[in-house]
Amino acid sequence: MEKTTIATLKQKKEALEPIVMLTAYDYTFARMVDEAGVDVVLVGDSLGMPVLGYPTTLPVSMEDMIRHTQAVSRGVKKALLVSDMPFLSFQTSKEEAVRNAGILLKSGAEAVKLEGGKVVAEIVKTLVGFGIPVMGHLGLTPQSVNLFGGYKVQGKTEHASELLLEEAKMLEEAGCFSIVLECIPAQLAKKISQALKIPTIGIGAGNGCDGQVLVIYDCLGLNPDFHPKFVKRFAHLWEEGLKGIQAYIQEVKARSFPDADHSF
Ligand code: KIV
Repeated sequence: MEKTTIATLKQKKEALEPIVMLTAYDYTFARMVDEAGVDVVLVGDSLGMPVLGYPTTLPVSMEDMIRHTQAVSRGVKKALLVSDMPFLSFQTSKEEAVRNAGILLKSGAEAVKLEGGKVVAEIVKTLVGFGIPVMGHLGLTPQSVNLFGGYKVQGKTEHASELLLEEAKMLEEAGCFSIVLECIPAQLAKKISQALKIPTIGIGAGNGCDGQVLVIYDCLGLNPDFHPKFVKRFAHLWEEGLKGIQAYIQEVKARSFPDADHSF
């Protein structure tokens, strides 16, 4: 078993080999995505919605990220483990950013991800300077949902697309080892990917990125009320789970479970 590192991702980009990233928030899913063979496991602050029931990622705390990073790190053996820096854990000062990123590394992450372009470039430089690998995140950055007025595709105007390309180059220059591009036009994502030496990972950004990421709950169909265009359900675990639970309820009510095979 060869451990995935930042160098592996760079080699994959150079070899035009797609990088596969998925989120995981607990030990069991971490084991599953790692055993399946993804390259990168992301403990995303998206855990705020499917795991904690929040409407956005904004309430997610460092405590939440620490607990879930620790759990996921116990299940991941091969993939590179990246943890999100939650809202307000890096914006207020470089000192706070270093402390919080360092705590995530102490909790088992091998790199951190943070949202933003020009405004975070100096923070990225500082973190990388202290030996903390950083993944950037541009486009529809969910921590800015209130500024965007909803979860809307970004980079649609010429000016916005030029700005995104410029910010991607800035993040690369600042030392990011990779950048997530979320919900931007496919042509723009392809242009950014071709302009950078570091790999891009797309979500709702078309097929021209160097890799792809999905939220595990969306990928496996565990989120019945969420139907954005970019999500493909590769399994239907909500329906499977409902069927299983209903069968259990029926058998308990009929006193057919537990039967002799499941009793001592
Ligand atoms: O929080 C998250 O899961 C993310 C991915 C969707 C990229 O940032």
